[in-house]
Amino acid sequence: MKNIAVVGTGYVGLVTGVCLSDIGHDVTCVDIDEQKVEKMKKGISPIYEPGLDELMKKNIENGRLHFTTSHKEAFKDAEVIYIAVGTPQKEDGSADLRFVEQAAKDIAENIERDGVVVVTKSTVPVGTNYKVRNWIKSLLKKDIHFDVVSNPEFLREGSAIYDTFHGDRIVIGADNERAASIIEEVNKPFGIPIFKTDIHSAEMIKYASNAFLATKISFINEIANICEKVGANVEDVAYGMGLDTRIGPQFLRAGIGYGGSCFPKDTKALVQIAGNVDHKFDLLEAVINVNNKQQVKLVEKARNRFGSLQGKKVALLGLAFKPNTDDMREAASIVIAKELVKDGAFVAAYDPVAMENAKRVIGNEIMYANSIEEALHDADIAMIVTEWNEIKNLSLDTFVRYMKTPVVFDGRNCYSLEEVAKHNIEYHSIGRESIL
Ligand code: UGA
Repeated sequence: MKNIAVVGTGYVGLVTGVCLSDIGHDVTCVDIDEQKVEKMKKGISPIYEPGLDELMKKNIENGRLHFTTSHKEAFKDAEVIYIAVGTPQKEDGSADLRFVEQAAKDIAENIERDGVVVVTKSTVPVGTNYKVRNWIKSLLKKDIHFDVVSNPEFLREGSAIYDTFHGDRIVIGADNERAASIIEEVNKPFGIPIFKTDIHSAEMIKYASNAFLATKISFINEIANICEKVGANVEDVAYGMGLDTRIGPQFLRAGIGYGGSCFPKDTKALVQIAGNVDHKFDLLEAVINVNNKQQVKLVEKARNRFGSLQGKKVALLGLAFKPNTDDMREAASIVIAKELVKDGAFVAAYDPVAMENAKRVIGNEIMYANSIEEALHDADIAMIVTEWNEIKNLSLDTFVRYMKTPVVFDGRNCYSLEEVAKHNIEYHSIGRESIL
């Protein structure tokens, strides 16, 4: 078992650190935020992720998981160091590598052991691992040998722990066998197939995978838009397509587009990466455009239905970019709320866990309700933005009971048309016929 340090305790870093300690490694997670570190030492996760707190507590108690603000302490005995800091988006869409560079500097200043393997988990443009190597090399005070390895992350928020233990593959990009086999050893206990390749290809696999999944989503959303016009049902179409094993059933759920910290950022970054080598990535640009339009689909539908939304009360159900997370990054709800406010609507929003983050992002131009019922009370329109179980399992009578007029725009196709037809609800969803 290895002595491992993880730099950055955001989503990827914390989940990686906790899971590596759970399979037996001795892991120290380092973060500059003192308050956050104090909390984590007590086993309190700064992010909402099912199962994470329990796993943190378990491994803190068995002495394999530590948190610190000191790079010196974290790197002193480390055999493997993971860089898992954020790579936010710059204005031109490219990835901002400031935090990665800072991590490289901290590593250079503090490593003491020969043969350390520095693993980049953060999603970084092709070529970044070599930059990391140069940054470290140029600042190393002693003659210490180290290697860099690309090991991209494929976990989904909301099911991150499950994905870490049940992923489809672990990709290891290295330029020498020693480094590759150390990281292979580290990951073996997960029992997941390992694919070893060169560094550039590993970096590209990450972007290409996310871009491909985003393409599937934009593709099915366009099919949904056409289904609405020709009278087809996108759920049946996606099911029928997915039966072909070459296509597969996953990521064909039509809705109001993809959000989150990954797809929007990574698709734009890949367009940039291609642009840097004089390649115009037309297909991916179209995927991004389709997604931008899809995010406002519900507002467009409501405008068409009502003419004007001025003075209407709209209940916004679900705010997070997807269920089981409190993450609001690039959530469709942000754009939807803005558009509704611009149209003069009064918005009452509800989300089971993302309310505090939503307040920070959307601000006080909208009202935040304490329950679905409070949001729906006296509303003219309900818009379903995130398919939380609490929303999917809602008795449809609730719309009838609480709303002024039960007109529902469902951006996530939460209810079966047969079920809706049994209630006195006007219902518009994505890629399916409306029930009037
Ligand atoms: C995504 C990838 O799925 C992970 O493999 C990857 O590791 C991660 O990005 C990352 O790069 O860190 P995540 O953003 O957590 O994971 O969420 P997904 O479950 O992939 O959903 C992304 C968005 O697509 C959500 O807004 C979701 O509502 C939407 N989506 C997903 C659809 O609209 N339809 C689908 O069929 C699937």
